[in-house]
Amino acid sequence: MAANLFDLSGKNAVVTGSGANGGIGHAIALGLARHGADLFLSDIDEAGAIATTQEVRQLGRRAEMAVCDISILEQVEALFRAVDQHFGRIDILVNVPYAFPSRVHPDELTLEAWHKTLAVSLTGYFLCAQQALRRMLAQGHGGSIVNIGSIAGVSALGRGNFPYSVAKGGVSQMTRELAVEYAGQGIRVNAILPAQVLTPTFKQGLLDNPQFGEKLQQRLLTGIPINRLLEPEDFVGPAVFLCSAAAAVVTGVLLPVDGGNLALNAGGSHIWPVD
Ligand SMILES: NC(=O)c1ccc[n+]([C@@H]2O[C@H](COP(=O)([O-])OP(=O)(O)OC[C@H]3O[C@@H](n4cnc5c(N)ncnc54)[C@H](O)[C@@H]3O)[C@@H](O)[C@H]2O)c1
Repeated sequence: MAANLFDLSGKNAVVTGSGANGGIGHAIALGLARHGADLFLSDIDEAGAIATTQEVRQLGRRAEMAVCDISILEQVEALFRAVDQHFGRIDILVNVPYAFPSRVHPDELTLEAWHKTLAVSLTGYFLCAQQALRRMLAQGHGGSIVNIGSIAGVSALGRGNFPYSVAKGGVSQMTRELAVEYAGQGIRVNAILPAQVLTPTFKQGLLDNPQFGEKLQQRLLTGIPINRLLEPEDFVGPAVFLCSAAAAVVTGVLLPVDGGNLALNAGGSHIWPVD
């Protein structure tokens, strides 16, 4: 057994949505690199992907990048061809991006917004997983796929989250199905389910939005027993664990990284006395 169960040295990881924008994918990519993995970064944001590539190289790990919209098959195929060309092997895939084009009540949702949300947040995960699986099967050494789902895929959030939540529910079930299909080939598929995370886009989209703002932040905290919103860095440990030998027989798991959110009943409270 390896001396350090969390050592990812010699592993090649592809992380989609890993542009240097302070989000979860960015943090996970750097975290995998700090634990020894070489990184193939990808994002629709070219400048962000270049910046993360430089950060990974500064950590002393190998890094390459490609611009890729994960909802477009041709771009996903090109991404994995580039991985073949530069790395020749893939051990880890982390699926991160999402789309949330329209925050409206379900009865007002356009078909276009519905399709866009699912195309990135669900179909894109399948397209990337399929490319990774084909290579992992051909290599014959197993592999690890980590999907970033959400607490929104387990229970309903309201507030115009409808197509996003449906996509995240799909990510959870995709995780279970792929885990069962490929467990025999040593390919593990797991999901991380975040609660609300203080990423720049979350702050800009919700907390800085006067429609939600401070009031929403207080509301969110009542649902998080650790009594703070999460930080992107909180996802590094769980992602490293799921990609590492420490999780050798962990597959099909939907791991809440949520400060206790999903443990809390809607009528429960971590605040005494209950107002
Ligand atoms: N932030 C939260 O509160 C929160 C809560 C629960 C779940 N999540 C999930 O965590 C994941 C990351 O969220 P985040 O808040 O860090 O996001 P983010 O917006 O900070 O980062 C997402 C990254 O994906 C890239 N991206 C967007 N569309 C893409 C596409 N079509 N193809 C490739 N890349 C694309 C963006 O350029 C960006 O770099 C998402 O799956 C999200 O649903 C986030």
